Amino acid sequence: MSSYFHYRDNRLYAEQVPLADIAARFGTPCYVYSRAVLTDSFHRFTEALQGREHLICYAVKANSNLAILNIFARLGAGFDIVSGGELQRVLAAGGDARKVVFSGVGKSVAEMLMALDAGILCFNVESAAELDRLNDVAESMGKIAPVSLRVNPDVDPKTHPYISTGLKQNKFGVAYDEAIALYRKARNLSHLRITGVACHIGSQLTEPGPFIAAAEKILLLADALAAEGMPLEHIDLGGGLGIRYRDETPPEIADYVAALLGVLRGHSEKLILEPGRILVGNAGVLLTRVEYLKHGEEKNFAIVDAAMNDLMRPALYDAFHEILPVEREINAPPLPNPPPLGGEGAIEKSNSSIFEIVGPICETGDFIGHARSMAIAPQALLAVLSAGAYGMSMSSNYNTRPRAAEVIVDGNNMHLVRERETVRQLYAGEKLIS
Ligand code: LLP
Repeated sequence: MSSYFHYRDNRLYAEQVPLADIAARFGTPCYVYSRAVLTDSFHRFTEALQGREHLICYAVKANSNLAILNIFARLGAGFDIVSGGELQRVLAAGGDARKVVFSGVGKSVAEMLMALDAGILCFNVESAAELDRLNDVAESMGKIAPVSLRVNPDVDPKTHPYISTGLKQNKFGVAYDEAIALYRKARNLSHLRITGVACHIGSQLTEPGPFIAAAEKILLLADALAAEGMPLEHIDLGGGLGIRYRDETPPEIADYVAALLGVLRGHSEKLILEPGRILVGNAGVLLTRVEYLKHGEEKNFAIVDAAMNDLMRPALYDAFHEILPVEREINAPPLPNPPPLGGEGAIEKSNSSIFEIVGPICETGDFIGHARSMAIAPQALLAVLSAGAYGMSMSSNYNTRPRAAEVIVDGNNMHLVRERETVRQLYAGEKLIS
């Protein structure tokens, strides 16, 4: 837990604001972010990169709330986007299009038109067909599109298979061995201008090794391109730095950057990074209230008002998120007596303090946490930690559940940065037929 989320007199605070006050004012489920954590993590990058020409392109997909994008824009960030929608968010939040890199394997013509019109920094192109399409679209607009190839370095990131992207078998990027040929092709397309190279090998990496291995391969490629008369302006090493959810020990930002700069020694190209999770993950918690305590045959359930539609990571990746009581004293009923040994039914289930923390959705996969040993009072407020990244941005309306409110805490102040959705908004575009 970041130090900006802390207990004072047994009450959990975000900066100087008790989380219980936020729940009382805005209801639950509610995402709460600390501005100080957002700012601090960004500054760690800029400090580590001092003296090196660089651009931190925050990966919008991690959390695309306009207020968060705006905070990063004001700190000088660029943005890594993967859709026209994300571009519109960046622009609406006051981001600078000239600091935007556009990743993704499936860019549509409409998205290319929008991005060329906005004047983004670079398209990270992921296939030969995309080079052709981008060239055609640029030509139709009388523009020259800046391009990098996203190269797949075939490095094992040693992370969850759903979020590893830099292996040969993944759909991402162009094959390392084909990269030079594709650069030659790009050079010959009249409405493209080669500006760089990009790679991104996966997310939630907890060791520096794979980043270094990928960077080394990308630099070899950059050298080979320079030797062919295609010097690059920038090298984009993607995102992927992991955070601590439970007991992981990912490198510190400073150490990660230092390791990359070590590999880059002798290279003067501008360094672009695309961090997402590391900037926002531990800046946010999901506040939820217990609706019911239910003692099943084999397990005890705390049924909370947040569900897999609000935070999909546990259901999708079996991801672990720490869960803490928002008010420790109120939440602490007498600790269970040690269960008498042996004898069926000897354990009084209501005393058990091992809970399945689950949501109200009609799916067994709807859980927030398994087998959590904690005291939970009826109606208690809980905080699901490390929920700032890929929480709200992956939320859905399954079971016609309006999406949660979002609040940013800044010192003593709380700001509602996204209203809770209403059910009317959910079906506003739907029509009956006769
Ligand atoms: N750049 C590109 C091209 C990406 O695909 C991603 C993430 C990033 C940067 C940012 O990666 P980060 O620094 O956040 O690791 N939903 C999953 C994570 C999916 C990541 C997809 N790509 C999760 O909840 O763990």
